[in-house]
Amino acid sequence: MVTLAPSPTPSAASKRTVPPTARWARRQLVRQLKRVPPLHRAAKELLVGAKLLRSRFRQAQRRLRGQAAPAWLQTTSIFQTPLRAMDADALHAELQQRGVTVQEGRHTLYLAPQEGLANALGLVVAAYPPTCGFKLLKRFAAPAQARYLHETDALGEAALLGGIHEQALATAALAAMDLGPRLVDVVHLRAGDVDITALVLEHIDGRSPTLQDHEQLLAALDQLQADALMTLANPSGYECGDFAAPGCNGNLLVTDDGLRYVDPQLFLFDMNAVIGTVVERHREVLHFGDRLGVVSQGKGFLYQGLPGRGDPGRRDPDDRWGHLDALLAAGGVTLRDRVVMDVCCNAGMMMAGALQRGAQWALGWDLPAVASAARELLPLLGAGRSTVTGGSIDDSVRFIDNVPPWLDAQDGVCLFLAAWHHVGFPPGIADLPWEWLVYEGREHEEAEITAANVATMEQRWECRAVTSQVITDGLCGPRPVVLLGRVDRH
Ligand SMILES: C[S@@+](CC[C@H](N)C(=O)[O-])C[C@H]1O[C@@H](n2cnc3c(N)ncnc32)[C@H](O)[C@@H]1O
Repeated sequence: MVTLAPSPTPSAASKRTVPPTARWARRQLVRQLKRVPPLHRAAKELLVGAKLLRSRFRQAQRRLRGQAAPAWLQTTSIFQTPLRAMDADALHAELQQRGVTVQEGRHTLYLAPQEGLANALGLVVAAYPPTCGFKLLKRFAAPAQARYLHETDALGEAALLGGIHEQALATAALAAMDLGPRLVDVVHLRAGDVDITALVLEHIDGRSPTLQDHEQLLAALDQLQADALMTLANPSGYECGDFAAPGCNGNLLVTDDGLRYVDPQLFLFDMNAVIGTVVERHREVLHFGDRLGVVSQGKGFLYQGLPGRGDPGRRDPDDRWGHLDALLAAGGVTLRDRVVMDVCCNAGMMMAGALQRGAQWALGWDLPAVASAARELLPLLGAGRSTVTGGSIDDSVRFIDNVPPWLDAQDGVCLFLAAWHHVGFPPGIADLPWEWLVYEGREHEEAEITAANVATMEQRWECRAVTSQVITDGLCGPRPVVLLGRVDRH
């Protein structure tokens, strides 16, 4: 563990901030420009255009270095299990012997949440919410090699469906379209020397569908196809058992929240289009206010850019995480296996980056409409190990009440990024189980302000600043970032 140094002095924190004369000159320039609105606008467009170029250049550099964000973000954990079966039939029998109820499908064995599940599957059960079920692929393989279809001769279809992460994302897409269960993770289970892949999903409890429910499902799927969001992988379309009326081979359930189709195997989603639809649904809350033509034809742009997508963001989470990696490394901190808590998480993209870096789970808080957007987006990016709480943050919020009891959250990392000027320094952050906190200030934040904020956090949340930097990313100017560590942990 790192010994906490005294807080960085304002001068240390501001080593690379703009000197007062330059700040004064910039203010004067802006004031003059504002007198001539077309000129002001043109100058803004130029500036943003330059930043956009910088951001695109960095993205291209990352792609060239092979660091472009993959479609699936979160890391895959490996869990040892007590199982010893060598094939799917033996696995079914062994699970039953261990007292577990198994629902067998053509390609998977599904284990709903139930008493004694941990006796059969081991530690993996405690790593996820108790409301989760585990869908074990009958075709044994580690996730990197796993394919959904079991003993199939439809090789073309198998190739079309792709790897297990594609199928997992199809599950997430069905959920985003309000037609399927929420995807949480893909895990690697070890049964002796054998590798098994499992999908972790929010369990669905529902009734059997009627003919009317079935018609409603087909109408919804027709709409998805008409909107070019999805096509069916099987050549027979609806003319197959998995769409047979009304139960779809046991794949269709009706819950209080609507229809739920629990098998992703027939669906080919255009994930880019699905993510675009979800972003569009939440345009009002995800898009940053200013509407500069140069960036997105006057449509406004995202506050947080989305990894692997072209839409510009005011912030570039990949670039930003690159800077935060260096800040954390300076304090000897890694995110692996830690719970990351993001206060004012916006679209959740920093949570996604934390999961990409091996975080065990990510918890986020933001306004209700923003939280809904993050909740829908995260699983679509392969970042389903996440919980987002919606609510207006003020000094009375008890964040700790939103840390699920099943989560072993001690020694976590709290992100408090570009948030203080929106929500102040809520006392409830002190009760969250973090060992390290990352503070990020406003764009062009003055060193005296950063120093005063650090003093407030140190006193209110019983922590000490360890190291600081000034960073730029996306379309933003410089901002200070400070790593703070808990006093009682060191
Ligand atoms: C400048 S953005 C920063 C977002 C994110 N932390 C980041 O740095 O990328 C501020 C965020 O604070 C949220 N916010 C503002 N006022 C809030 C409030 N009273 N309660 C909860 N969230 C709030 C906004 O919705 C927005 O997502």
